Amino acid sequence: MGLLGKFFSNAGKPAGFMGRIMIFGMNIFHARVAHWGMSRMNIDAPSEIAELGCGGGKNIRDLLMKYPDSHVTGLDYSPLSLKKAREYNADMITAGRCEIVAGDVSDLPFDDERFDLATAFETIYFWPGLVKCFAEVRRVLKTGGHFVIVSESDGKDKPSQWFNSIIDAMNLYTPGEIESALKSAGFVNIHTEHHEAHSWIVIISEK
Ligand SMILES: C[S@@+](CC[C@H](N)C(=O)[O-])C[C@H]1O[C@@H](n2cnc3c(N)ncnc32)[C@H](O)[C@@H]1O
Repeated sequence: MGLLGKFFSNAGKPAGFMGRIMIFGMNIFHARVAHWGMSRMNIDAPSEIAELGCGGGKNIRDLLMKYPDSHVTGLDYSPLSLKKAREYNADMITAGRCEIVAGDVSDLPFDDERFDLATAFETIYFWPGLVKCFAEVRRVLKTGGHFVIVSESDGKDKPSQWFNSIIDAMNLYTPGEIESALKSAGFVNIHTEHHEAHSWIVIISEK
């Protein structure tokens, strides 16, 4: 793998010096797509939220602002992401509105039926098997709970295809492939929205 590939592989699991640069960028460069995705989430006042693959933690904070009565649990398997997310949300952790835990989405460290809402921003490209991971997400959701996926790639855009070609652990998915994996994992009422000008997608499904 070339230097560019090594650098951008940190998007999948930030580590070391290059990972620190990547995390700094995530909170900035994902802000627009995350903001758009959150604007499409018309979900009534979830009280327990899981933010999966939380990276630098900006989306945790934005969810806490969008849902002022909620508690958000951020999860990531990169120690560097966890450190940055904890720093970014230190006041919210102190206020008892948020916790940030280590874990892998393929084997979530949570009891069944704990959350009203689970979110995944810019992260499913790196998950080890969509159906398996989606089934884990479904397990930890309450019946009637929602799972929201926000990605800036619809699987067909040229920039993401370039990233995909240099990052070994990345997989691009079309909305159809994501919907099919959600159905296989048992989700229902699957609704996909595509941004009118960008390749951004938001997919909302229900347990
Ligand atoms: C591209 S970053 C996106 C971070 C954040 N969601 C955002 O939108 O800025 C992907 C994050 O997902 C995490 N991640 C990838 N696969 C994971 C897995 N199997 N379990 C937990 N976290 C994972 C990575 O460590 C990284 O922090």
